[in-house]
Amino acid sequence: MGQEISVEALSEKEAAAELERLATALAAANTAYHTQDAPDISDAHYDALKRRNAAIEARFPELKRSDSPSDQVGAAPAEGFGKIRHAQRMMSLSNAFDDDDILSFDQSVRRYLALSEADPLAYTAEPKIDGLSLALRYENGALVQAATRGDGTVGENVTANARTIGDIPTHLTGAPKTLEIRGEVYMSHADFADLNARQAQRGGKAFANPRNAAAGSLRQLDPNITKDRPLRFFAYSWGVLSDALSDTQMGAIDRMKSLGFQTNPLTKRCATPAEMLAQYREIEAQRATLGYDIDGVVYKVDDLAFQDRLGFRSTTPRWAIAHKFPAELAWTRLEAIDIQVGRTGALSPVARLTPVTVGGVVVSNATLHNEDYIAGCDANGAPIREGKDIREGDWVKVYRAGDVIPKVADVDLSKRPETAKPFTFPTTCPECGSDAIREEGDAVRRCSGGLICPAQAVEKLKHFVSRSAFDIEGLGAKQVEQFYLDGWIREPADIFTLKDRYGGGLKALKNREGWGDKSAQNLFDAIDEKRTIALGRLLFALGLRHVGEVAANDLARHYGSWAALAEAIDAAKPAAEAYLATERALDEERRLASKEGRRANLSVIRKAMWKDVPGPVQAAWDDLTGIDGIGATVAVSLLTSFGQEAERASIDRLVAHLDIQDAERPQTEGSPVAGKTVVFTGTLTRMTRAEAKARAESLGAKVSGSVSSKTDLLVAGPGAGSKETKARELGIDIIDEDGWFDLIAGA
Ligand code: IVH
Repeated sequence: MGQEISVEALSEKEAAAELERLATALAAANTAYHTQDAPDISDAHYDALKRRNAAIEARFPELKRSDSPSDQVGAAPAEGFGKIRHAQRMMSLSNAFDDDDILSFDQSVRRYLALSEADPLAYTAEPKIDGLSLALRYENGALVQAATRGDGTVGENVTANARTIGDIPTHLTGAPKTLEIRGEVYMSHADFADLNARQAQRGGKAFANPRNAAAGSLRQLDPNITKDRPLRFFAYSWGVLSDALSDTQMGAIDRMKSLGFQTNPLTKRCATPAEMLAQYREIEAQRATLGYDIDGVVYKVDDLAFQDRLGFRSTTPRWAIAHKFPAELAWTRLEAIDIQVGRTGALSPVARLTPVTVGGVVVSNATLHNEDYIAGCDANGAPIREGKDIREGDWVKVYRAGDVIPKVADVDLSKRPETAKPFTFPTTCPECGSDAIREEGDAVRRCSGGLICPAQAVEKLKHFVSRSAFDIEGLGAKQVEQFYLDGWIREPADIFTLKDRYGGGLKALKNREGWGDKSAQNLFDAIDEKRTIALGRLLFALGLRHVGEVAANDLARHYGSWAALAEAIDAAKPAAEAYLATERALDEERRLASKEGRRANLSVIRKAMWKDVPGPVQAAWDDLTGIDGIGATVAVSLLTSFGQEAERASIDRLVAHLDIQDAERPQTEGSPVAGKTVVFTGTLTRMTRAEAKARAESLGAKVSGSVSSKTDLLVAGPGAGSKETKARELGIDIIDEDGWFDLIAGA
């Protein structure tokens, strides 16, 4: 940069060329620093390049690139950090909103553990810190690695940054040989205010709240910046361990404290739900004066042996729950109602608001749910908000609870402008003009354009490349949208033919705005890398209605391979129509019966409707809907999507480019029951039915409720009746509960 021209003197052409050079140089410096751990330019040089880039952008805002290095300040892109696979998944917590939820939580834990009301069962209660979670790995007492949560499976390597945080010891004495401490990085209110004042002085961007400031600071590509940001850390949990920390949660907290970590002083052991709720009120009362943000209280079963038995659902532990504080709210003007078309064609009304601060965050958009909600009634036509409708120009109450999207909750009629007119919800898609249809019983109006609707196609593509789906580096929402508009990528399969379709790819891509030699090559490499994909991820990425991450993984684990899944879906396909027809017939019967004042004859109808459905179809349907967590809604959506010719063809085109990995069956190595179908019957004394099922499934077994020729093993407790008889007739292995424990002992 020796003979650098002053920014004032640059022509537009020179500026564009230099911005491209700077983007490439800074990207290369980032890779060298973070991925290869081998910085090739000094920090000062790096900062100078960044400043120059910002100055040029300030003078030529229209030249700012889509991959501008300045967008990487504050929230550094994930690509800048090396990735770390968590040795144990980082889970989230399920939420509770009122006292009753806590009582039900206690009930469900007791039920699972087969404890009576009278049995003692203690919990810990502690503040839920509003920051971001971090996993710290220590080997022989030395901090060797720090990783953000990421998607729970893979996080970002922020070791260098974590070392700059005062609350995080870099050496421990007397710790287990391998120890992973987990906790929350956060910023205090005072430090947050200080930081924003400093940012303002330097002309930098202000952070919206302490949580964003903490996240932005921890995820700085330059640890020198993190060092100047006063981050703090509370330890509250752990991952892999070579030796247990304690046999209780409270004991483990104490142990972490004695190892030199900060633990939250409001953590308390509670012997009853009443004590838990009392601690909740205590923490809530102190919330305003704590000096840092918390958004609720976390309860955890204190006995670690119980925690172990309770285990995890797909993404949350059964032994903990977060009791959230009530939502925060504010009043503002509703300037306009926009309609957005989502991935599945749903028309969603969005409120454009005069910006207002709600609980520390500036809110300018909020959801209005659906057309009934705007009109002032629920899905059954019953009034909500005393029947008040919502109109453009209205004075509205907005609230947000935790991370959820802000919502419009109420309207003040006394402030309604005289000109305000009732909102007319569109009956055609604002994006493609197709009819927007609202099916009976559905609150949502949907565009019927399917893949011809550009909004649906783009949203599907954005979902496809998103973090929990294909997560292709360098191909985010913005890029996909651009490629779609240019006609380069119209459906997921096109991503994998991009390189071939454009003459070696590089050249054509390089001439496009925002792409250089290196970024183009990186993109093609990143795409190639994702040709190998896990079955669950692929299923989720398809973006089918109702098939979220959890359902996708449940399906993947159940069927194991793409071939098995596709075969099962094809086999069950006709059942979707039978199911829907049955539901319609049942509704009709219910309506008639109530009109005629008689009891509805549902089972007769159900039988009649399924009578002509061939046995194998029924069996495939039962198998599908029998998967824990997969109900008829998910099944119908799956079967109809695969049943639509255009959609199926699009999926097949995609699959042809992929190497789909069979679903992992966790812990099934050496499991004597992997792949086996097990039935539990009779009274179990050493475990509850739910626990037995969860344990068997975690060992790779399929648990069924009925005995058939497919059953491999019957675990029969005292009082087993017809199931045992049937199993005997079929010559199936029968063992008792002790036999079961012996069988799985080593697994
Ligand atoms: S325990 C397996 N304790 O809340 C459960 N989490 O909504 C591990 N969090 O990802 C989490 N304070 O980032 C736990 N005292 C606390 C917490 C806490 C904040 C965060 C954490 C987690 C999220 C779940």
